Amino acid sequence: MSTATPPAPAPVSSAPVANYDKGLANTIVADTQMSFIDGAKGVLEYVGIDIDTLARKSTYEETVYLLWNTKLPSETELDALKSALRAEYEIPQGLYEMIRGMPKDAVPMHALRTLVSALALHDPEADTDGIEASKRKALRLVAKTPTLIANFDRYRSGKEFVRPNTSFDIATNFLWMLNGEKPTDAMSRGLDICLILHADHGLNASTFAARVTIATLSDLYSAMTTAVGTLKGPLHGGANEEVMVMLDEIGTMDNVDAFINGKLERKELIMGFGHRVYKAYDPRATYLKTFAQQIATDTGNLRLFEMSQRIESIVLDAKAGKGIFPNVDFYSATTYHCLGIKTDLFTCMFAMSRMSGWCGHCIEQLQDNRLIRPQAKYTGPHDVAYV
Ligand code: CMC
Repeated sequence: MSTATPPAPAPVSSAPVANYDKGLANTIVADTQMSFIDGAKGVLEYVGIDIDTLARKSTYEETVYLLWNTKLPSETELDALKSALRAEYEIPQGLYEMIRGMPKDAVPMHALRTLVSALALHDPEADTDGIEASKRKALRLVAKTPTLIANFDRYRSGKEFVRPNTSFDIATNFLWMLNGEKPTDAMSRGLDICLILHADHGLNASTFAARVTIATLSDLYSAMTTAVGTLKGPLHGGANEEVMVMLDEIGTMDNVDAFINGKLERKELIMGFGHRVYKAYDPRATYLKTFAQQIATDTGNLRLFEMSQRIESIVLDAKAGKGIFPNVDFYSATTYHCLGIKTDLFTCMFAMSRMSGWCGHCIEQLQDNRLIRPQAKYTGPHDVAYV
């Protein structure tokens, strides 16, 4: 037996790591097979398929299958996913009661965050570990979120609850519950396209937040609650509501130039413009611009579209060369308005769609997990006397 002294363990350093990256703009913390973004060229793909192709040809359910399985489904596989989702549309009775206990003037995103969290209380599998249990919970979250949003809106408007209709797809079922009548095919398809366009987008702030939560081995409901809260901010998903508020405030085409130029002179943000990753036109905005024009014409809201177009032209001129273009939130405001959705529900619509992306990312995280725990640079004093 050797008597040599074992090598000393490497010293453990607590010194701050060298790469300081405020806002984590240049840091990669995870792998994903779901969406690919080329911010310089304005490209977005889900599992290698261009977003424009998906918006034109796919459905939300098919897109969810694609994101969760990294391949397009066969007809049988798609039917199975649709049936599984429809079987989960209904929410527990306790959730209807909880909605009835909410203040009618509650901000819908506060209500949604609370209700998503409360779903865990009624799911016996809430704390069941494992990928398969997480997939079942993901299905429930995607299927039930529209029921929560629509019925919260009905309650605050003094209307009776409308139970989900399992013969409808997600978009049609949502509009059915929201309005209490079957939407036209054009309305259903319009919402379906919005759901496809918002379903996933790399490691955006809310997806990152969800991955941070699930990486602690907390549960999927906790991760989704985190994500809804993060999406709410006006620098993220909340921007679509702010765009509509701005359009309402401007009111008429005559006021656009003075309003926007005033904001630019005061160096204020114009909501619906700019993006952390896209320094070219956001491809979702490219699609939505054309779509918004069509739906605004069909619904007699052309004024809104024309005002948006004028805002775009002023901002692009003023910010030429700075990589500031409309983002997904800019033309989605006009689109949701034309679909008859109230302004303060816009961010909930975003959450309803992104729920699939968030859940997919959490399952990816669990498949190759490591606690996400960056460091902060301490800028306070040392050796302070304790008095
Ligand atoms: N209006 C006016 N100026 C802008 C805007 C805007 N919307 N966005 C960025 N800028 C300016 C910014 O002031 C800065 O100027 P300077 O170099 O002179 O200081 C420059 O452009 C670079 O901006 P940044 O702040 O470094 O960009 P960021 O990557 O930190 O922020 C952003 C990205 C999305 C938070 C920001 O563009 C913004 O606040 N936009 C308005 C809110 C919005 O529309 N958010 C939705 C984002 S897309 C969908 C989503 O993720 O939910």
